Amino acid sequence: MIQSKPVYYFDNNATTRVAPEVVDSMVPFLRELWGNPSSAYGFGAQVHGHLEKARAQVASLIHAEPKEVVFTSCGTESNNSAFSSALSLNPTKKHIVTTAVEHSANINFGEHLQKRGFDVTFLPVESDGQLDLHQLEKSIRPDTALVSVMMANNETGVLFPIAEIAALCRSRGVLSHTDAVQVPGKLKLDVRELGVDFLSLSAHKLHAPKGVGMLYVKRRTRYQPYVIGGHQERGRRGGTESVANIVAFGRAADLAQASLHDENTRVRALRDRLENFILTRIPNTVRNGHRDHRLPNTVNIAFDFVEAEAVLLLLDQLGICASSGSACTTGSLDPSHVLMAMGLPPMRARGSVRFSLGIYNTDADVDFLCRHLPPIIQKLRDISPLNPGHPDNDQYDIAKARADHEREQAAEKALEAISA
Ligand SMILES: Cc1ncc(COP(=O)(O)O)c(C=O)c1O
Repeated sequence: MIQSKPVYYFDNNATTRVAPEVVDSMVPFLRELWGNPSSAYGFGAQVHGHLEKARAQVASLIHAEPKEVVFTSCGTESNNSAFSSALSLNPTKKHIVTTAVEHSANINFGEHLQKRGFDVTFLPVESDGQLDLHQLEKSIRPDTALVSVMMANNETGVLFPIAEIAALCRSRGVLSHTDAVQVPGKLKLDVRELGVDFLSLSAHKLHAPKGVGMLYVKRRTRYQPYVIGGHQERGRRGGTESVANIVAFGRAADLAQASLHDENTRVRALRDRLENFILTRIPNTVRNGHRDHRLPNTVNIAFDFVEAEAVLLLLDQLGICASSGSACTTGSLDPSHVLMAMGLPPMRARGSVRFSLGIYNTDADVDFLCRHLPPIIQKLRDISPLNPGHPDNDQYDIAKARADHEREQAAEKALEAISA
């Protein structure tokens, strides 16, 4: 056992614990059934059978047909593949519509496409994280190849009306994709009801291992592979399938359907208890994101007058895991692009922390966090020059302090850029 200290895990949107049942399901494919599923002999065919069983399990999670499931290496690859296919099969179409609050898998790929001569519209969002559908409709052009809007935001949990967006796209003859990586196990997923052409999932967000994802490609939607190689995945994704991981994904898909109720009752209640505690017991706190149109497990809170990184450091000393944004952008000095797109002042975005709960969280976990969070915030505010209650700050002008601080940060960034 590598990890011996207890961990209070509130970062389930970053990744999830692999369920013990899922670990058990994959072991035979590491020990005994290690053949290549594409091999013609019986030993390979046997493995192939399990691969197809997992495909059916994952298809059932999203109410798709098994043939519509293409296994990939991760959610990022699935998203990149949908963009790439839509553009390469429609060479006269050079435009993609997405949002400013997507995961970096889309934001950075969109910027990469812009550098290669494509046009990408990053739609803004409202202050509660929601999208203006009229603006989305207006942004669709005759040369739009794809509209890609995430189903649930990984930082705030805010949900987007994907069925409405897909219907709009259909009426305009445009392909639609949704990054639903944060949704399985938390909310029902039905591709027939959603009506999208493409949908991405990632196994490690639903209690399966990292290294496997899925792209749903709707029947009769033309598809150009992104990873080109062998004829695996019916010619839609080259590379020998990661069988143990895929089997695990299938088992986790079954478990996710079974845990839907728990996520929407017990986990939701734990999240609400934590959120109510913070907002009522810790002054100068604000929830980021719409209160109702949100995943049941996610809460994102701005703690004024503190830096989230300092809060996370002190929480970490107690074994409490949370985050200040996407795990993929941790380490960046910039405030969260999601919170900035929602119009938060940079200081408030820098003081925002995401707690994302899951099926393994207990009442005792939330009690532990509620016991330790207020003194941590207090301790940091006591030494924060941004705090109007700071003893040295009787005449403290918070607006000026913020402006000064932001100017300093901008100067530091400019210096870094020059010396880079
Ligand atoms: C919304 C969303 N999309 C895509 C990804 C990327 O998934 P993966 O880590 O499997 O590449 C993540 C991971 O955090 C995510 O939260």
